[in-house]
Amino acid sequence: MSIVFTIFRNMKNLNIILSSLLILSISISACKKDDDDEKEANTNLFVEINRDVANYYIGTPDIVEGNGNVHGFIKVRYNTIAAAALDSTGKLPIDSVFPKGSVVVKEIYSSINGGFIQFAVMKKDPGNKYAGAGWLWGEYKSGGEVTFSVAKKGNGCISCHSLPDNRDLNRVLICIESWIRMY
Ligand code: HEC
Repeated sequence: MSIVFTIFRNMKNLNIILSSLLILSISISACKKDDDDEKEANTNLFVEINRDVANYYIGTPDIVEGNGNVHGFIKVRYNTIAAAALDSTGKLPIDSVFPKGSVVVKEIYSSINGGFIQFAVMKKDPGNKYAGAGWLWGEYKSGGEVTFSVAKKGNGCISCHSLPDNRDLNRVLICIESWIRMY
């Protein structure tokens, strides 16, 4: 009787072990899928940076010093979709928003004549699982190395980009305008 019981108990343990292994392997493959998704999302956002580069912001055809040294020395450009939302003075009209597919790229330099450091990029893509406040947010070196992953959903970017002087979470439209007025 006691032998039967021991076998039964061992089978129960085996069941527990097997189901734990199953749960473990499911969660490992879920993590792997998350990693793959994140990698793909970063690759896609990086590709956007060089897809459509024609439209530099009206005030930044050359490197300018950004506001308050947040991102240092910069040039800012818009893809065709984003540029189409700007008015003839190069501004996003007050109360307008950038359409889906808009890409805004900030090139960051070490000084006014200095070398390129990295890209900061925002893409309007509200349906994307990595969107934060309707935008994808990322930072990349010139070869695509990720310095701020899209999976962070703009955590660390949005609070500052939401300050009262933003237009659809864009700051350069205000900051560079005041910078230009200063000179
Ligand atoms: C402490 C404030 C602050 C934080 C944090 C911040 N930004 Fe910015 N960002 C600015 C300001 C101010 C500008 C306007 C240009 C300038 O002065 O550099 C700007 C401009 C930009 C632009 C050009 C489009 C625009 O807003 O006009 C991009 C793209 C950008 N930031 C991306 C990012 C990303 C990605 C992050 C997070 C990794 C981030 N920023 C974090 C303040 C911030």
